[in-house]
Amino acid sequence: MNTVWSEHVQGIMTLYLSRKLRFDDMFFGQYKNSFDLDRSACLKILEIGCGPGALAESLHRWYPNAHITAIDRDSNFISFAKANIAGVDFMEGDAMELPFEDNSFDVTISNTVQEHIEPTVFWGEQRRVLKSGGVCLCLSARKGLRCAAPCLETTEKEKVFWESVPQPEDDLEEFSVCRFPKSESEIPASMEENGFTNVTTGYAIIDLTPDALKYPGQMAELMIEAMRKNDIEAVQSVRSGHTDDIISVINSKYDERIRLYREGIKQWDTTVSVTMIIRGMKQ
Ligand SMILES: C[S@@+](CC[C@H](N)C(=O)[O-])C[C@H]1O[C@@H](n2cnc3c(N)ncnc32)[C@H](O)[C@@H]1O
Repeated sequence: MNTVWSEHVQGIMTLYLSRKLRFDDMFFGQYKNSFDLDRSACLKILEIGCGPGALAESLHRWYPNAHITAIDRDSNFISFAKANIAGVDFMEGDAMELPFEDNSFDVTISNTVQEHIEPTVFWGEQRRVLKSGGVCLCLSARKGLRCAAPCLETTEKEKVFWESVPQPEDDLEEFSVCRFPKSESEIPASMEENGFTNVTTGYAIIDLTPDALKYPGQMAELMIEAMRKNDIEAVQSVRSGHTDDIISVINSKYDERIRLYREGIKQWDTTVSVTMIIRGMKQ
């Protein structure tokens, strides 16, 4: 039983809600062209490092004839996904030793996983389980932008709290997080070096601005709640024993942001995420 990621790096709801937004149907058009998959085909798709399962959940809607398997090493993520998402086979498993036979999938896909696994193993295992002619899709989060509403700016109390806890880098090193970072040009090159052909790249740019008219109220509030969960789970992961005060500060800030939204008092705070999509084929 491995719960390192969900307990020390990113919590369940932080990942689930942020990805639920990024992979909302509203944005499918941006992914579809880069994925370049036949929506009518009975594809066997394997998602690697699926976390709590939001991408797999969207893939199930986007490719209704596909059979989707999704694995992650973290048992909390897999328990959450199994309990909350239907139509996908979730299982615990290691991307460095995929528990599948050679030549068994049409597509492998991962989102923000490449940077955590040694490249020859990351690509090599996917090549091994892909059928000849199969497609490898690697999604990688790139630098986006964030502009906070004044009511969501970090308070003095939060600053003092974060100064009093160990720097996250200390933990991240130990858990092998981001040990293999790659630039926008290095990822496709690494894919080619590891035997994939017809490599191509694309980008999905997701604008999450609660006050923008294009978003229905439910989605706008989900954007605010996703940020709230992110901040609360970050504090909870610290386990310093003095987190209740800080969590109540965070809740007050987000309650205020929700109030402003509901009263139509615009803040124009925004988060823009940029996802690079690298696609390669196994000959
Ligand atoms: C940044 S999170 C992304 C999770 C998910 N793809 C998403 O976008 O929500 C990285 C994920 O990779 C998983 N992971 C890291 N190394 C792994 C490995 N060797 N085998 C399986 N999963 C791994 C972690 O448990 C974590 O869920």
